[in-house]
Amino acid sequence: MNFASDNVVGASRPVLDALIAANEGARASYGNDDETRAVEARLSEIFEREVAVCLVATGTAANALALSAFVPPYGAVLCHANAHVMEDECGAPEFFAGGAKLIGLDGVGAKIAPQTLARALAAYPAPTRQSPPFAVSISQASECGLVYRPAEIAALAEVARGAGLSLHMDGARFANALVALGCSPADMTWKAGIDVLSFGATKNGCLAAEAVIVFDPARAKALPILRKRSGHTLSKGRLLGAQLLGYLGDDHWLANARHANAMAARLADGLRRLPGVRLAWPAEANEVFPVLPLPVAERLRAQGAIFHPWAPTALPEEFVLEAGEGVFRLVASFATREADVELFLARAAEAVSAAA
Ligand SMILES: Cc1ncc(COP(=O)(O)O)c(C=O)c1O
Repeated sequence: MNFASDNVVGASRPVLDALIAANEGARASYGNDDETRAVEARLSEIFEREVAVCLVATGTAANALALSAFVPPYGAVLCHANAHVMEDECGAPEFFAGGAKLIGLDGVGAKIAPQTLARALAAYPAPTRQSPPFAVSISQASECGLVYRPAEIAALAEVARGAGLSLHMDGARFANALVALGCSPADMTWKAGIDVLSFGATKNGCLAAEAVIVFDPARAKALPILRKRSGHTLSKGRLLGAQLLGYLGDDHWLANARHANAMAARLADGLRRLPGVRLAWPAEANEVFPVLPLPVAERLRAQGAIFHPWAPTALPEEFVLEAGEGVFRLVASFATREADVELFLARAAEAVSAAA
């Protein structure tokens, strides 16, 4: 019953098989191998246009590099105040971008509303006082498990474009958001106005592989240099290429995400039905955020369930958290077993009865 994150499991079989196959023989190094080239071509197919691709091993590196390619050292990035780039990357985006500043905006469910962005830009201090904004970064799915619809992304892109800003998407859970929406990768990104994407794969089946994808390759010229300079160019680049080849083959990545989302939906449905249990935000992708009485959470943990508390900062205004309640996060992955979900729900039902 480990629902701590979608990175607590290893890699899926096709990813491991592709790695083992790519292990044989000598290959060109530094990303000039056949696997990496094939992934670049496959991603251009998937996104229905020629894209520039830069593979890295972590989501933090993908975000930091993506932002550093679009924001100068004296620039700023507007993002949600609870965004991973803001709260969980030890300043990597600022560090990689040579001092660029992140500016946090409010928004229910860790999503930024176009009006909030427009207001922030209208009230923005003069460039000689504050770093001028160069980009907006959004997380898909958001840090509260919510998904931006293509029309919502397009509305944000319109405001960003109007101010001359680029739009970055932290897609650590890109596949989960995509299958939740049932749209195409192109609809969810460049067609809606995304300029640069951190395409996550580690959480959904890879061991450690992510891609920075730039939709106008002319804007990606510095990326390979920035990656090398930051120490994120693998000499055995095939390790990244092979993982992504296995991940993207036969729509394996989409099947993985569908499974994770289905497990989260089952968890959400079961939890919502328990007396005294509510969801802080709807479970739109593969994360569930129940509000639990603290003794219920304690009892579940004592019985071996693993999950984290979550900061209640992006709750809707009308959502009242009672004393003795906490918000928690459960994450389902491609490897989450139905039996674990059912066991957790049964234990939760017992805990709720015991606490009543
Ligand atoms: C929304 C989001 N972005 C980026 C990352 C970064 O991934 P990594 O831990 O591989 O650096 C995570 C990981 O938890 C995440 O949840």
